[in-house]
Amino acid sequence: MNLEQAQARVQALHDILNEHNYRYHVLDQPTISDAEYDQLLRELIELEREFPELSTPDSPTQRVGGEILPHFEKVEHLSPMLSLGNAFNEQDLREFDERVRKAAGDKPVRYVCELKIDGLAVSLRYEDGRFVLGATRGDGTVGEDITQNLKTIRSLPLKLRQPVSLEVRGEAYMPRAAFARLNSVREERGEALFANPRNAAAGSLRQLDPKLAAERTLDIFLYGIGQNEGLSFTTHTEALAFLSELGFKVNPERRTVEGVEEMLQYVQEWQERRPDLAYDIDGIVIKVDDLALREEMGFTAKSPRWAIAYKFPAEEAVTRLEEIELNVGRTGVVTPTAVLQPVSLAGTTVKRASLHNEDMIREKGLMLGDHVIVKKAGDIIPEVVAVLTDKRTGDERPFTMPTHCPECESRLVRLEGEVALRCINPACPAQTREGIIHFVSRGAMNIEGLGEKVVTQLFERGLVRSVADLYYLKSEDLLRLERMGEKSVANLLRAIEASKSNSLERLLFGLGIRFVGAKGAKILAQHYGSMEALLSATEEELTQLEEIGPKMAASITTYMKKPEVRETLRRLAEAGVNMHYTGPAPVRAGDGAMESPFAGKTVVITGTLERMSRKEASELLESLGAHVTGSVSKKTDLLIAGEKAGSKLDKANKLGITVWDEETFLAHLPK
Ligand code: IVH
Repeated sequence: MNLEQAQARVQALHDILNEHNYRYHVLDQPTISDAEYDQLLRELIELEREFPELSTPDSPTQRVGGEILPHFEKVEHLSPMLSLGNAFNEQDLREFDERVRKAAGDKPVRYVCELKIDGLAVSLRYEDGRFVLGATRGDGTVGEDITQNLKTIRSLPLKLRQPVSLEVRGEAYMPRAAFARLNSVREERGEALFANPRNAAAGSLRQLDPKLAAERTLDIFLYGIGQNEGLSFTTHTEALAFLSELGFKVNPERRTVEGVEEMLQYVQEWQERRPDLAYDIDGIVIKVDDLALREEMGFTAKSPRWAIAYKFPAEEAVTRLEEIELNVGRTGVVTPTAVLQPVSLAGTTVKRASLHNEDMIREKGLMLGDHVIVKKAGDIIPEVVAVLTDKRTGDERPFTMPTHCPECESRLVRLEGEVALRCINPACPAQTREGIIHFVSRGAMNIEGLGEKVVTQLFERGLVRSVADLYYLKSEDLLRLERMGEKSVANLLRAIEASKSNSLERLLFGLGIRFVGAKGAKILAQHYGSMEALLSATEEELTQLEEIGPKMAASITTYMKKPEVRETLRRLAEAGVNMHYTGPAPVRAGDGAMESPFAGKTVVITGTLERMSRKEASELLESLGAHVTGSVSKKTDLLIAGEKAGSKLDKANKLGITVWDEETFLAHLPK
């Protein structure tokens, strides 16, 4: 390929990748599989490597994180990034409306109500449609250049759908699920946990190493246009629609309302629906829609007169810290939990709160018996935010972390670079028990009827000491447990029996090998095919696999060498537990996925299939690059309808979605 041809291909790849990125991250309607996307991206990376002069700052390859920065450059904002006045109750909102109506000449006013995203305000500059600079708010006048980190946000367009020059403002945030994932990984690694998604987002955007920022999943909603060349709108509603047209992610829950009553209704509605959101919000922003009226109203020194932020009532309460309980997790990490005098908070009674780790207790200066403030953010577990030291009576007792494991009394250690204390005794009963709970859990061997309580009983009575023992349980053992009748015992034994035929990845994940999550387990199972093959894999061989890093590889080989592990595996196999991968063959980019008629398609399965279960069909489809969902919507590309298909079939017909019967489906499977 000569330079000219390469240039044309690079340009085409930019367009294709940008389009698919937009469909996936902004519209949430992907049309190609991840594997196909990755293959196109790899092609672009290769071309840029071969022709470095074709690598540009707005290339889709730039999202993975560039050079480590020595510091962030300062950026002066084109116009100050202001804050908003606050409203705390209905009265405040009614007064705001009165002020606005006065300026409007006593006419009812149209407002745009938006969710107040709990993240970080950012400003983005685009020149001729290309993203050139992104900055934090800073002190409102001068912020910091975080362009590199912002590029890692997949929903942020590097190139707009029109070649306009403008500054846009919005909120970067971390979705709740990403936050939970991040903290669980940090916990596993013994690193300090983030208190909430906002702090985690702030920490990520202020990373000087953009590769670290790229590992954190952030997202962004844009809510306003700043300086621009030649754009003009009459309403905010229009401006937001234009942002959306340009390819920006604009919050879909925004609503243009007429008058104060409708505004109050929106506020009320979201106060209730707040826990259902995939991200945290801390209030509602209300803005005058008519831009001419905004102009007329102007600003105070700090904030616009035409907008206000309604803040949700703080979900905080004061209570007493009665005790600090210590729990030993599956990986040996000892976590302190606050036992509180029960207090009602945002509709539930709170009795316990996480304290995360020893440092957190020390930083807050917590003593047993202290009055503390507890807070609940969204649907996240409550946490202790502060101690009310002036409420101390002198009867409070200091708390010190134990030096020995509360369960097995072996000495606790703090591994280098970790915040957490760990029990490293492999025979620690707490770890074993938690390990068994993990083994039977839904994502692992999925043994229905074996919950935490039953496992604890089995463990405490010495009936199950290792996961292999589960497969040697007899009905007379189970009948002796609390609340276990003939019927539940029979069901449980059946569930245990059924789990024997699980595909290898479930077993691998269930074993709880450090750093091997569900995804890692699947890659291993697909690649090696059997436990036997995996047992003889070397560390070097493992690291050759994509997505298996040196840490995971080392952890796997160390684990597999242990005599007690070998013994457990021997007993599992002897009991008849399947040690092979029985799922569909992996699809590699370049073969099946490209030809598969299912690649990138959103598919729903309904009714009874004759040749396989719905679950099997779904796994098969996913392996062929489809995205299988549970309900029919406009986004559905295909409905596979078995016998006795009901309302989903009706809905699909109504929406004009392609419907295949089982036979047609089977006929389209790769041979
Ligand atoms: S409008 C003139 N809209 O809340 C200020 N702000 O004090 C224009 N925020 O840190 C801000 N969601 O980043 C606006 N839909 C939304 C918002 C929002 C979150 C943040 C903003 C700022 C603070 C306002």
